[in-house]
Amino acid sequence: MTASGRTYTIAHLPGDGIGPEVTEIARDCVDAAALRHGFVVDWRSYPLGSRRYLSTGEVLPDPVLDELRRVDAILLGAIGSPDVPPGVLERGLLLRLRAELDLYVNLRPSKLRPGVAGAVTRHKHEALDFVIVRENTEGLYAGAGGTVHRGTAFESATEESLNTRAGVERCVRYAAGLAARRRGGLTLVHKTNVLTHAGDLWRRVAGEVAAEAGLALDYAHVDAACLYLVDDPARFDVIVTDNLFGDILSDLGAALTGGLGVAPSGNLNPARTGPSVFEPVHGSAPDIAGTGRANPAGAVLSAALMLDHLGEAEAAAELDDAVSAVLGSGAPATTSGWDDALRAALSAEAVAR
Ligand code: IPM
Ligand code: MN
Repeated sequence: MTASGRTYTIAHLPGDGIGPEVTEIARDCVDAAALRHGFVVDWRSYPLGSRRYLSTGEVLPDPVLDELRRVDAILLGAIGSPDVPPGVLERGLLLRLRAELDLYVNLRPSKLRPGVAGAVTRHKHEALDFVIVRENTEGLYAGAGGTVHRGTAFESATEESLNTRAGVERCVRYAAGLAARRRGGLTLVHKTNVLTHAGDLWRRVAGEVAAEAGLALDYAHVDAACLYLVDDPARFDVIVTDNLFGDILSDLGAALTGGLGVAPSGNLNPARTGPSVFEPVHGSAPDIAGTGRANPAGAVLSAALMLDHLGEAEAAAELDDAVSAVLGSGAPATTSGWDDALRAALSAEAVAR
């Protein structure tokens, strides 16, 4: 316990591929910030992912999930391996955590930081700073649907998009609150001209919530939103959207702001009935794992979102600023280069503040 008594129990799930490499650095950054800001982190490491699955057949054992329910936050590296069939770890670990811990918002900020070349070189950094609030437990990820007549000519496969009023409403409420704390811009992205059932629900609920919050609600179809994000990203502040659209748009957001290596995310339980999960948007990148070339920026920025969620706003800002400082002076090509540069940036900030 510190004098102020701020101790956080944080589960570290390093996962697969580059996950352990990038989250080790994120952990060090959190520890450095903790020391300076007078809080303590009690890290608990959980070796889940492909190795555990391949040796024991376990993905997320119930006793482990019960332990995870009781921590203050979870920092996840990445999961996935070419040796495990698609969906086993994604559904069994990541999507299960999102559902079991009721992580109904996936927060995905996209900010073009000075010195970073985004995919569209004419973008000015001050004109590209938006956040995607992705609904994270419903839509096409809910697991509804199935296969019948498998292996015959009449085989049919369906995936149903589940949208509940309560689920849409709580997500839009979070987005509206965030927009009110930022520049006040709230855009619903959907495909209401084709997905008329879900689209109608989203549109009505978003309209009601925005009106209640005193915000003007903007709307874009998802295809047009892709075009606007490339053409004129300054029109976006907070984008609220359904699960799959948010998944796709956030990779575009990453490309516009320097690539997947720098994109953070927070799977949030805004009601705080349990811990939230913070993870870089990138995957396990087995092709570069072990080569010393993994970029830890997305993991460090995810850790910054985590600290902010825990109420350690100053420590969070320090991590965020450190990443900006390193990117601003030319991103290192290696993980160890990043490690050194982040340490230097964090101690320079410690001196300056
Ligand atoms: C993401 C990922 C996941 C998703 C996969 C790994 C299940 O792409 O977090 O964006 O689709 O949500
Ligand atoms: Mn994705």
